[in-house]
Order: sequence, then structure tokens, then C-alpha cells
Amino acid sequence: MRGKKIVLGISGGIAAYKSAELARLLIKEGATVQVVMTAAAERFVAPLTFSTLTGRPVYRSLFTEPVQSSTVHIDLAREPDLILVAPATANLMGKAATGIADDLLSTVLLAVRLDECPVIFAPAMNTAMFQNPAVRDNLAQLRKRGFIIADPLSGELACGEVGEGRMAEPEQLLTLIKRTLAISDDYAGESVLVTAGPTRESLDPVRFFSNHSSGRMGYALALAARNRGAKVILVSGPTALNPPAGIEFYPVTTAREMYDIVLESFPAVDVVIKTAAVADFRPELAAEQKIKKKDELQLRLVRNPDILEELGARKNKQFLVGFAAETTDLLNYARAKMEQKNLDLMVANDVTQPGAGFNTETNIVQLLYRGGGVEALPLMSKDELSHQILDRIKEARRKIGGRE
Ligand code: CTP
Repeated sequence: MRGKKIVLGISGGIAAYKSAELARLLIKEGATVQVVMTAAAERFVAPLTFSTLTGRPVYRSLFTEPVQSSTVHIDLAREPDLILVAPATANLMGKAATGIADDLLSTVLLAVRLDECPVIFAPAMNTAMFQNPAVRDNLAQLRKRGFIIADPLSGELACGEVGEGRMAEPEQLLTLIKRTLAISDDYAGESVLVTAGPTRESLDPVRFFSNHSSGRMGYALALAARNRGAKVILVSGPTALNPPAGIEFYPVTTAREMYDIVLESFPAVDVVIKTAAVADFRPELAAEQKIKKKDELQLRLVRNPDILEELGARKNKQFLVGFAAETTDLLNYARAKMEQKNLDLMVANDVTQPGAGFNTETNIVQLLYRGGGVEALPLMSKDELSHQILDRIKEARRKIGGRE
């Protein structure tokens, strides 16, 4: 991490003592660390601890030492390669989600340009606070805008209760920082095609068939692959998400539009990851005028092309990854699809499990490999899962390469 500038924001929680260890790890890796503390954070750990570890004065307010200019909040937002807020309290994240800037750290967060400087929040709080709908909404809002959340762990909390809310460990945060800064660059020179979201199939000018896919898994994969140096093509059905900067983005609506773009891009790519929930059927005819109410409506649905099956039939060098969302008999269905579509890796998830599947921030999956292997991964954020999937793809391709 030599030459990297990190702003370490610390808000008021007992986990602030762990941030001292994190600052030490970052310094050891060669990064420059500038600490910004809130007033509440100073109640937990003395600024002197951080100035000693980092060799730099700690910034504590917009107006007091060592501030020497009225634009310190802008400088702190422009200079770093990354900002990490650890611990991030419910209050601090609430302010960031709603645009409140009433101290130095929250003002820096408002001044930051996310496409130039990624921001990671490492929440730490009591379980009931973490599960409070207000906090959940704020976190969802922050993620939607492109902030990265280092999911807290489950375990014993400082208040004596046991549950979700413990700050991620310094080592884990260090790994996440390295991944976010693309320190590894292990996908440089590779071209990765990701499909995401649902497709929409029109019934008439105002109605369509679709499904619950939010697109989050595919967007997280596209971002992770980009951060690891890949050239990324993202083909996405309609979602509420912003595509990551620095990738080729193709918005589509129907399965047939997705088919055309994916097939056109296919010959030039190395890896295809198909997270899209493609509608298998579409109305045979989309009515030109709005269909009016009547006693009975008979619809005829016809099959859409199976994009992944077509890729499986055409593939030569490409590594194909499918996603199977099932509600019963997960492994059997997923294995059958994998064989039928000639895939190299299948990511299978039981969407009935809490924390898995559509419209969640997290996922629980099993990975099915060619040749019969199965690996169950624990519940994790879609960001972390993306990196784990990219790790497995890299490893599997290395093995295939080794055999040839
Ligand atoms: N897929 C695709 N084109 C389709 C349907 C699915 O490319 N028309 C891809 C999906 O992107 C996913 C994989 O195939 O990676 C499995 O999708 P899924 O909907 O689970 O499977 P289906 O083959 O459609 O089977 P079924 O709907 O009967 O479960």
C-alpha cells in the first residue's frame, strides 16, 4: 500500500480502540494515514494514540488545530485514495445518508466524490440499533449511492448482549481496503461480461411480466471485477442501481435484447457471469393498446431464448458461470442446469432462506464445480461474495490452464 493515502474517520463507539490496530496495520503496509475523529470518538480513545501511531496530527474539528485553512474539509475529501470510517456509528451513517454535515467528519463525507475516492463504513453498534428500520434504511441508501459497507460480525458485544453489530476485525478491513483499491489487479488483461437484473416482457403499453431481481449481485460483481483490473461489460435489465464508473454498460429491457448484446460481446470475453433473472416466457403478442377489463383474459406465453444455454453451446475459451435461484431441491436442479448449459461454475442459492436471494444485501450460496465438487459458503455481503466468486473463478481457470 506504499504511496496510498487513507483518511481514517473514527466516530464514537467502543470499537474505536480496534481502529488503533487498524491504523498500525495500514502504516506497516506503507500507507499514509490521516485520522479524523469526532468529539464522541475522543471520549473513547485519546487523539494522542492516533497521532503517535500515524505520525500526523489528528483532525478533530473544522476550526481548531491543526486546521490551517477554511477548506480543510475539501482537502480531506480530495487528497485520499480512500476513506474508511471505523467504527461508523448509527448517528454518523444517518448524517451521511441524509446529507447532514455538522462536524468535520460528516462534512468531509458530504464533500467526497465517490467515483474518485471510495468510502467504506464499518458499522459498530448494539444489535437492536443495527436492526432498527431507520438504520437499515440509511444503510440501504448509502449502499445504493455507492458507499461500501463492511458488514459487522455477530458475537458478544461490549454491552454484554450477543448478536449482530460487532465491528469487522482490523485484518478484514485491511483486506477490504486492498480489494477496493485494486491493489491485487489480478484480473488485469481479462475481459469479464456480467448480466444483471430482471428482464421485462411487455403485455401491453402499460403492463409487463418481470421478477423480483434487484440486480445487486451482478452490480457487485461488475464493481469487484473492475476493481481487480478486469475490463467489464455489464448488460443489465431495469434496476434502481447506478452502474459503476469505468465499465461498458448496456441497459436492456427484454430477454431478446439481452440475448443480442450478450451474443455479440461473447467472442471477445474470457469470463461470463450470468446473474440476470431472465424471464423464460413472454406474451406471444404485446397488445398495441391497453387491454381493457373483461370477465376473462386468456394469455398465450411463448419461450424466450435461453441465453446461457446458447453460450454453453458456442463456448470455446470462455469460462461460464451461472446462477440458480431455487425454492426446493437446490443442488439437484442446479446441477442439472449446469450440465444442460455446459457451465464451469454454478452459484446456487435457496431463495427461501433468510438473508439469501432477491432484494437482500447479503447472500448464502453453494458453489457447484465441474466434475462434481460442492462448496457451501457462509452468509456474507454481496460485495464480499463477489470477491470470493472471482477468487474461485481464477483458481478454477488456473487449474484448467494447468491441465492443457
Ligand atoms: N438464463 C439465461 N436465459 C434464460 C434463462 C436463464 O441465460 N432464458 C440463465 C440465468 O441468467 C442463470 C441461469 O440461466 O444464470 C439459470 O437460470 P434459472 O432461471 O435459475 O434457470 P432456468 O434455466 O430458467 O430454469 P427454471 O426457470 O426452469 O428453474
